[in-house]
Amino acid sequence: MDSGGRENFGSRAAVIMAMAGSSIGLGNIWRFPYMAGEYGGAAFIVIYILCSFFLSLPIFFSEAVIGRRSRSNAIGAMKRLAPGSAWTVLGYLSVITPVIIVSYYSVVGGWSVDYLLKSFSLDFGQFVPTGPKVLLFNTVFLAVSAAIVALGVKGGIEKFSKFSIPLLFVLIVVILVYSVRMPGAGKGTEYLLRPDFSKVTPRTFAFALGQSFYSLSLGMGIIITYSSYVHKEENLMVSGVGTAVADLMFAILAGFAIMPAVFSAGIKPDAGPGLIFETLPFVFTRMGEASPLVGTAVAVMFFLTIIVAAMTSSISLLEVGVAYFVEEKKMKRPLACIVVFAIAWLLGLSSVFSQKAFGLTDAFSSNILLTVGALLVVLFVGWKMKKEDVRDEITDGGTRPGNGKLFPVVYFLIRYLAPVAVLVIFFSNFFL
Ligand code: PFF
Repeated sequence: MDSGGRENFGSRAAVIMAMAGSSIGLGNIWRFPYMAGEYGGAAFIVIYILCSFFLSLPIFFSEAVIGRRSRSNAIGAMKRLAPGSAWTVLGYLSVITPVIIVSYYSVVGGWSVDYLLKSFSLDFGQFVPTGPKVLLFNTVFLAVSAAIVALGVKGGIEKFSKFSIPLLFVLIVVILVYSVRMPGAGKGTEYLLRPDFSKVTPRTFAFALGQSFYSLSLGMGIIITYSSYVHKEENLMVSGVGTAVADLMFAILAGFAIMPAVFSAGIKPDAGPGLIFETLPFVFTRMGEASPLVGTAVAVMFFLTIIVAAMTSSISLLEVGVAYFVEEKKMKRPLACIVVFAIAWLLGLSSVFSQKAFGLTDAFSSNILLTVGALLVVLFVGWKMKKEDVRDEITDGGTRPGNGKLFPVVYFLIRYLAPVAVLVIFFSNFFL
């Protein structure tokens, strides 16, 4: 605890693990591999890396500046940094968006729990995305996520992330090693890597940037909230770069774990739920016909990976609202967790029972809410906050001369390039 009675993450590793936990999720597993393949292979990957470092990271730093400067939940942060101004809207948006996202994100978590159980018999049957059974598994997934958050920043989020991020990397590497050795796997690696510049259009940039945003959990108060638990002496820039590198590595590893197996089975890749819950079960069943033990083991590892990856993201989504209720409404943490759980669960009923609602919630939150949130964040830090305060955070109170040298570049990116880029992705949703 620090003097304000708030908890802090215990170490730099803990900060990076928690932030990487939020970043690494379904986006890395079901969207990145497919996008890389469809939008130009290695060419897309290079564009994605450039977008991540030159555009997403400055947005990440902006959220981190707001969080650590205010040492507050997202709404409290705006009240402290811009009292009595309309900027509180940014705070409210940052608390509402993650609750909406977690309401459908946990539905996928629920499907994964169901599929983990099915993996033991390798009998997946038809994919049923809605209905009472989905409600049951969604409730379990959301309740476990909320229970971890209830254990606290250190005792819950930090502990769980420190254990699960290394586990995720081990699991994905084991699956990858198996996958690339399957017959005909080369076509999958080729799909991911063959640079195809003819597929590089303005759309490619918009998609790469949008994906990099989603993947780094930007624009929804998460980095604001998590950074409010980062110690004053901690190197904010190193934490950001560490998170971005971990997120990128996991996305690429996931690509090489999934696509070779998909191509080896002779099926076309797909994005979204179809890839994980229809295509891959078919691959696992085929593996199981050759060797039941191997098929089961790979399927179990795979769905466990999805569950853990989705859960570290869900807990970050829940924490934003929980921090708000604890600090602004003076609730005890367990009660705040129950309240946020209940709101997310109720909102999630629409996604549990209607695929159309699921799709709309995803599209509305990922394309609109998240982009508006990110735009307001960079405008706030670049144009409203005092430059010296921003420099103070980026250089950790002036103690990092290295960060100080980079500051003008980071500040330029925050002030000019990032807002333009966010506007571009926002409008590309409607026009491209
Ligand atoms: N970053 C997570 C992923 O790539 O799956 C998803 C996510 C988590 C999106 C948290 C948004 C968010 F606020």
